[in-house]
Amino acid sequence: MSPDPLPPHPTLERYYASDAERPEFVNDMFDKGAPYYEWVCRVMSLGTGGQYRKRTLGAVGLEKGMRVLDVATGTGLVLRAAAELSGASNLAIGLDPSSGMLLECRKRCAAPLVQGRGEHLPFASDRFDLVSMGYALRHVADLRVLFDEYRRVLKPGGRVLLLELTQPQSAAGRRLNQLFLGTVVPGLARLWGGAAAARMMDYFWDTVKNCVSPDVILSALRDAGFPEPTRTVTGGILSEYRGMRPR
Ligand SMILES: C[S@@+](CC[C@H](N)C(=O)[O-])C[C@H]1O[C@@H](n2cnc3c(N)ncnc32)[C@H](O)[C@@H]1O
Repeated sequence: MSPDPLPPHPTLERYYASDAERPEFVNDMFDKGAPYYEWVCRVMSLGTGGQYRKRTLGAVGLEKGMRVLDVATGTGLVLRAAAELSGASNLAIGLDPSSGMLLECRKRCAAPLVQGRGEHLPFASDRFDLVSMGYALRHVADLRVLFDEYRRVLKPGGRVLLLELTQPQSAAGRRLNQLFLGTVVPGLARLWGGAAAARMMDYFWDTVKNCVSPDVILSALRDAGFPEPTRTVTGGILSEYRGMRPR
């Protein structure tokens, strides 16, 4: 018997009545918010987001000649760094369900792009040296299915890198997060991009606040066949989860 599904957060009834409506809601939100996404990310990361993503890819061992699948590639912030490090634009592939995001990605990057979801990867098994996912595990239906797929498409010895935002440990850090990510960022997004950009950032914050704990994510990685997954925290809120498919 297969284990129960593991959604990354409970149903958020402020946005949709049931989880069945969630993929359509999320897709529409990213389609409409896509033109503002890179700007919002620059503001949110105070200009450091691109360099940070590249550093984490280097730290997980991405080198020239490796094949990378960047799931939930969005406008390609992780993908561009992966293509640079792997040394050829066709070694890094981006996958995303949102046509709006893929359109924005195509303006900035020559890498191959595929429309699809992390839970059903349209690739043969044992194909990639690295699967990356930046700030998107909160959007999938079932973390177990997602991580099973990652293991399947990775070569033996291949690695997975998940970047995510996590609530800080301290009460003061959580209050600061609430102020910046819950109020300032959606407010600036509204001024710049109107309702579509503000909705994207409101939803972003609600899913971060309601996301399952890091221990649950690590345990799901372990269950999916990544025996010793690790989590590193940068700046109190940036979580980097890493795992390796055994050789
Ligand atoms: C916050 S953006 C992240 C973009 C990029 N990875 C980054 O680091 O900035 C989240 C992306 O996840 C995508 N997404 C939503 N549901 C998904 C799913 N089930 N599988 C893969 N990607 C999904 C969205 O379309 C969106 O482009």
